[in-house]
Amino acid sequence: MTDFKRYLVTAALPYANGPVHIGHLAGCYLPADIYVRYQRARKRDIKFIGGSDEHGVPITIRALKEGITPQQVVDKYHALIKESFEQMGISFDIYSRTSNQVHHETAAAFFKKLYDDGLFEEKETEQYYDEKANLFLADRYIIGTCPVCGNENAYGDQCERCGSSLSPEQLINPRSALSDAVPVKRKTRHWYFPLQDYEPWLNEWLIEGHKEWKNNVYGQCKSWLDSGLQSRAMTRDSNWGVKVPLPNTEGKVLYVWFDAPIGYISATKELTPQWADYWCKEDTKLVHFIGKDNIVFHCIIFPSMLKAHGGYVFPDNVPANEFLNIEGEKVSTSRNWAVWVHEYVKDFPEQQDVLRYVLCANAPETKDNDFTWKDFQDRNNSELVSIFGNFVNRAMVLMHKLCGGKVPPLHLDVMDKADEDLIAEFEATKTRVENLLEQFKFREALFEVIDLARKGNKYMQDKEPWIVAKQLATDPGKQKVIDNCLHICLQLTANLAILVNPFLPFTAKKLLHQLKVVDKILDWENAGKAKLLSVGYTLRAPELLFRKIEDEEIKAQVEKLRAGSKKPESAGQPVENKIQAATLKPVIQYDDFAKLDLKVGTILSAEKVAKADKLLKLEIDLGTEKRTIVSGIALHFAPEAIVGKQVVVVANLAPRKMKGIESNGMILMAEDGEGKLHFVKPEDSVDPGSGVS
Ligand code: 2FM
Ligand code: ZN
Repeated sequence: MTDFKRYLVTAALPYANGPVHIGHLAGCYLPADIYVRYQRARKRDIKFIGGSDEHGVPITIRALKEGITPQQVVDKYHALIKESFEQMGISFDIYSRTSNQVHHETAAAFFKKLYDDGLFEEKETEQYYDEKANLFLADRYIIGTCPVCGNENAYGDQCERCGSSLSPEQLINPRSALSDAVPVKRKTRHWYFPLQDYEPWLNEWLIEGHKEWKNNVYGQCKSWLDSGLQSRAMTRDSNWGVKVPLPNTEGKVLYVWFDAPIGYISATKELTPQWADYWCKEDTKLVHFIGKDNIVFHCIIFPSMLKAHGGYVFPDNVPANEFLNIEGEKVSTSRNWAVWVHEYVKDFPEQQDVLRYVLCANAPETKDNDFTWKDFQDRNNSELVSIFGNFVNRAMVLMHKLCGGKVPPLHLDVMDKADEDLIAEFEATKTRVENLLEQFKFREALFEVIDLARKGNKYMQDKEPWIVAKQLATDPGKQKVIDNCLHICLQLTANLAILVNPFLPFTAKKLLHQLKVVDKILDWENAGKAKLLSVGYTLRAPELLFRKIEDEEIKAQVEKLRAGSKKPESAGQPVENKIQAATLKPVIQYDDFAKLDLKVGTILSAEKVAKADKLLKLEIDLGTEKRTIVSGIALHFAPEAIVGKQVVVVANLAPRKMKGIESNGMILMAEDGEGKLHFVKPEDSVDPGSGVS
């Protein structure tokens, strides 16, 4: 269905166990907000749902660490998170919380319906128990070595290093996250949701029906389904959460990943009595904005729950982003390696749009990306200040100087091709931005807007109205040329306000003020028009939209980040030292190096080698030929995830047999200080077979 009557947009409910950082913003809140603001400007019937996820182990662990109650934890962080979002202009229609009564009732009723319909399996199993803390250890209460990548600090539900989803039983050398005790097994009873029963439906609805989803999302879902789904416990032994609505279940609550997504429904209920229109009518477009670690929950588990319950719409898209690293390192809240939003707004007052701009321009839409303070400064100074701000400022200043502070007329008799071309760009840019936003390509859409300002600058530079003005004394007819230039630049400025509004709403507001026009002008249908401002209309004095960010400010932020960060908890020495400590090999001559035939290849297929945990058999396109290469990277990458990647191949390495397969070459990998492997590849895609030297 493409003809949607209403839109329902959700952004992942952050755990209320700490403040939000810029990785959160870039991952889902900013793209969701841009999308919603754009759809609102299109006058779509849309609701934007958010809230705090206040249950689950992350909250109880934080409470234990801080020596306060879980309720105190969520009260503190819910308020802080909500305020941070408001300050950054994330325009939720509601920002709720899962500790609300309506949520407890909604989640419990949802569970009860599935239970009454006989859709759970009740099982008594043995689970890890901490005898010191008197607690069953599910999810993040238990830590151990990841069986996939060897990370010694993997959680009972997930390894944060390699991303594998785990169960506590899979951990090697498990220990309690609370007391470090070696856990014992104890019997406990829980309700399991048989995800495998929904596989046929998921294959049809998602794998067949949503091939248009982003590659990173679709690929992860396919890989989950290909590996086969299993029953998953939907209850936990805990006193913090939504109580299991069944008799004799004292001390049992719903699994946080069962109740949290239902939080989207509860929040919509709180927002509007028409909530069921949004959740139950088929002509609703439901879009979940999330980070990549939430993909399985939003694309597989929650839709299966909705299917089991019946009566709800399914997500039409789940445009998950990858992660944003900071200054080349993964964000780590425990190490305080993060840029916190509430601190940013204090350190850079009135500069929300600069952060919005940088995070969108550098959004991890298709791969992990890096935020650096230097890039923040460069993008501000050379894009926002020098291109966008500069264009608007010149148009306003010159209009006051050369056209008496009023919108000058457009004289058709002196219009030239440059005038016409620039006017044509208004509509063309609008169409391109629109298409890109509908496809969740926010970075490209933003670049289109900046590009329009860039074109405006070039036009003004070519027209040089300040030079033409000098000819007025001898040739008063030239005023028409000046008028046309500034008329078009001002109409372009009004267009920029509309187009930039979803991305930089604070800037759009400032533009409206200077142009002395009302909010109504921001309706998307006005974009592309060349007559937004009336001729003869008096405009306000220009004010700078952006200010230059100085080196000292950037230096202070980098220092703050480094000074505030702690060493990795488990590692003996920081990552940098580990790498520096690696011994260098003896010097070689150029001739030795020149013997290597290095070529770029593209991975065509990858499969596990039977009876060899570490090996993958790769088929690689080297341009003129296809090669089979056996590579020891199976513990680091899922075969499906690397198909299509470019690699650097040592193409003239003597063939070698591994597990009966002849390997013809080797691919180059970089190993970081934590032992994680990364592909060595060209920055931009190049033809397979391209030489590397
Ligand atoms: O990963 C997280 O931060 C989760 N609290 C997201 C929950 S999203 C939704 F299901 F509520
Ligand atoms: Zn791992």
